[in-house]
Formats: sequence, structure tokens, C-alpha cells
Amino acid sequence: MEILDGKKVANEIKAEIAAEVDLMKARGEKVPHLAAILVGTDGASLTYVGSKVRSCQRIGFESTLVQMPNTTSEIELLKKIEELNENDDIDGFIVQLPLPPQIDEQKVLLAVNPDKDVDGFHPMNFGKMALDMSTFIPATPFGILELLDRYKVDTQGKHTVVIGRSHIVGRPMSILMGRKGFPGNSTVTLTHSRTKNISQITTQADIIISALGVPGFLKAEMVKDDVVIIDVGITRVPDETRERGYYITGDVDFENVSKKASYITPVPGGVGPMTIAMLLKNTLLARERHRARS
Ligand code: GUN
Repeated sequence: MEILDGKKVANEIKAEIAAEVDLMKARGEKVPHLAAILVGTDGASLTYVGSKVRSCQRIGFESTLVQMPNTTSEIELLKKIEELNENDDIDGFIVQLPLPPQIDEQKVLLAVNPDKDVDGFHPMNFGKMALDMSTFIPATPFGILELLDRYKVDTQGKHTVVIGRSHIVGRPMSILMGRKGFPGNSTVTLTHSRTKNISQITTQADIIISALGVPGFLKAEMVKDDVVIIDVGITRVPDETRERGYYITGDVDFENVSKKASYITPVPGGVGPMTIAMLLKNTLLARERHRARS
């Protein structure tokens, strides 16, 4: 069994991007600028956005954090998005999800200029991804592809089972693993909350990508020997004995499943750090495209 060490690979990618930024600076060019809009005070969202902004600072990007109260109206948020669309200094931005219930997520995703949509959530970018056109690939699926690529995990002709059909992870992942190329060329099954006899499907899988958010869901008896496991779950479980008051756990019963797996991602330290690295990579790409347009 080999650990797919997302923390290590993410650090390698961040070092590669930082070297690019140094070259940009040496040439007297503007460095990439990422903005993030955070609406409300959800603890997990605060942590994620904080990590994204800190990572920007570490690798030499400019960053802007726009914090808006939980009571923000849809119109106020759309106005802020328009401001960022028009701000020529900003190369890319994200609106952290989930949003409070008074705001229609679809309207928000449609309002982001596709050229600045470094999350790859705009329907135009999502459509391009599905059609093998050059675009921004959503950071978590992009990070999983990169991890499989750097560890040279064979995906061709393999049966990949994706658990969860979210727009952020499961749905794009199911499209990407079936695409022509590497990593890809998999035969994909997309499973979700209405799937019957899921064990019957997971025991047929060569690769399992679980993005469910249910701690310990995937058990050893649900997988075959030598399976490749990608655990995208990041659930906070309350724990008074820890200073933070919680611990983070994935969808996979790591202790037992890892004994059968050929490769497995840990939680934390697997997919999570890769998501941030690939958001930075998309921002670098956004800067390069912006420069080419202007
Ligand atoms: N919420 C959970 N994951 C993500 C992500 O990748 N991007 C944004 N904007 N919100 C998220």
C-alpha cells in the first residue's frame, strides 16, 4: 500500500508556482491576484478561505478577501461580483460555497465572468470541461487528477466508482475520469444517495472516489484487494479533548480499508491540500490568459 501524499505533492506544486511568480517579478510583470468572497461566518468556510488567502501570500500572489455578513442580500452579492468582474487588477476570484439560503447559488455562479472563474463553476467552463476544451477545471477534481498523474496511477480501462454527485466534486469527477487521455479512459459509475446495493458496485471498483461527507462510510468489506482509494470527505467531528473542539475525518474507514488498498489518500493531508494548490494553478492560468487578452 502506498499513501497518496497530497500534502507533499501540493507543496511541490506550490513551489513550482512560486518559481513562476519569481520569474514574473524578475521580468517586472504584474503577479497573479486572487480574490475570494465569503458570505457569513460558517466555521469550515472561514478555515478554507483563510487557507486559500494565506497560500496566496506564501507563494507571492496578491490576494483580496471580501467578507460579507450572513444577512447579505442576493442583489448586494451580485453587485460585489460585478465589481470584481470589472476590476482589471483582479485576475480571478471565487465565491465560497455554501451561501446563505436567501441567495440563489445558480444566479451567483452565472454572474461570475467566465474568464475570472478560477473555480470552474460557471456553466460555460463546466460545459467546456465536458467537451474536452481548454478551461478552468474545478480545483478538487483537478487536484485528484494531478495526484493520480504524479503517482502514475493507472486509470486506463479501469472501473472508477464515484460516490456522490455534487456539482463541485462528484459530477465533474465522473466526467473527467471518463475523458480520453491520462488520467482518464476509465469506465465510470456515478453512485449517489439513491443508489441501491452500493456495496455490489464498490466491490467491482478498481478506483473509488468518495465525496459523500459521511465519516467511515466506506468499509473494508465494500472494496476489493488492490483498490485505489481517493477520500474527498472532510467532516468535522466534535471532540472536547482537542484544543479546536473537533477533528477532521474522511468517508473511508482508513485503518481497515488501507490494508486492502494499493494506493490511498489520508484525511487530512490527501485531497484537501491539493484543492488549494490547484486553485492557485488556475489563478496563474487566469493571469496568463488575462495578460494575453490585454
Ligand atoms: N466549498 C467547498 N468547496 C469549494 C470550492 O472548491 N470552491 C468554492 N467556491 N466553495 C467551496
